Amino acid sequence: LTSPSTPRIEIDLSKVAHNAEKMVRLYGSKGIHIMGVTKGVAGSAEVADILVKNGITTLADTKLKNLKTLKTAGAKAELVLLRTPALGDVEETVEIADISMNTELTVIEALSREALLQGKVHRIILMIEMGDLREGVMPADLENFIEKVLPLKGVKITGIGANFACFGGVKPSDVKMRELSAIAEKAESMFSLSLAYVTGGNSGNYHWFKETKNTGRINNLRVGESIYLGCETLDREEIPGLYTDAFTLVAEVIESKVKPSLPFGETAQNAAGEYPSFADQGMMRRAILAVGSQDVVVSGLKPKENIEILGSSSDHLIINAKDTDLPVGKEVAFHVNYSALLSLMASAYVSKKYYFSNFIQLPQPG
Ligand SMILES: Cc1ncc(COP(=O)(O)O)c(C=O)c1O
Repeated sequence: LTSPSTPRIEIDLSKVAHNAEKMVRLYGSKGIHIMGVTKGVAGSAEVADILVKNGITTLADTKLKNLKTLKTAGAKAELVLLRTPALGDVEETVEIADISMNTELTVIEALSREALLQGKVHRIILMIEMGDLREGVMPADLENFIEKVLPLKGVKITGIGANFACFGGVKPSDVKMRELSAIAEKAESMFSLSLAYVTGGNSGNYHWFKETKNTGRINNLRVGESIYLGCETLDREEIPGLYTDAFTLVAEVIESKVKPSLPFGETAQNAAGEYPSFADQGMMRRAILAVGSQDVVVSGLKPKENIEILGSSSDHLIINAKDTDLPVGKEVAFHVNYSALLSLMASAYVSKKYYFSNFIQLPQPG
């Protein structure tokens, strides 16, 4: 038997299933449905299947290509495009996505024309700018915006939403959620709309959700990172009862030697275009792993063993082995953060190993 190739990301579907089910139940306890966001796993059909089997009925992704993968795999869920479609993607968006997030009239007009051509009504969620300064219509412009959208026969406004904690690091506070609720209620009453989705944010909404006494009109959140990595995203605190280790990177030692800790010779830029500097720690047991910055956001890796990542170039990860034995051929495991996860799942150079753990030690609350 040959061992699976490295570098590889190992995906414990039992833990993803557990986390998804917990999130569906937790948010459902106050009437909030969650969309399962698949961009963190590059639209993996295997992961999406687990999300759907654990109560998620809507899958959402920023990339059409990922939604196409899910549709082709026959995912039994509504598919939502989480990013406003590029004009060049309008045709495919109408073909593939049941719903898309939108902020631009030009795009919505194009979606409407295309939907009519395809004999469909394409549903849209209007994103509102609430301070994080990524996507969104300014609240003051919303009424005017809706007035222009309503006559378009190929689209239907099915919801409004906002995004937080992504660009500006703005928190989805109770005040912000009440503002969004009020915006939703006003739009509904002014235009006789019935909004199926009032989607208030993402994994960063966890603390708001736990603390709020009244979720108002917010009936939806879009959750990725909490399901995959078991944390909220304002301070990256672990969520009690969730697994934080469903994903593991495994890379292989391809060189293991005692070498100086300081480069020797005249120095100039390194591969990243930086002038690196190093502390002299004398001779050091060093290893090279066959993975690099082309495959993974290296700053998002945390070794599971007592070793230190010294740096990387595109295909080499340079390790201070300390007292750990790292012979050539040894497989070394790493925890991953969300940036590392995104890059690993999207990399064609990293193999994916899906498995169900035979025995799950449930994390103890608190
Ligand atoms: C609009 C939108 N909502 C939700 C998410 C999911 O965020 P998280 O993984 O923090 O739950 C993303 C991620 O890119 C997004 O772009």
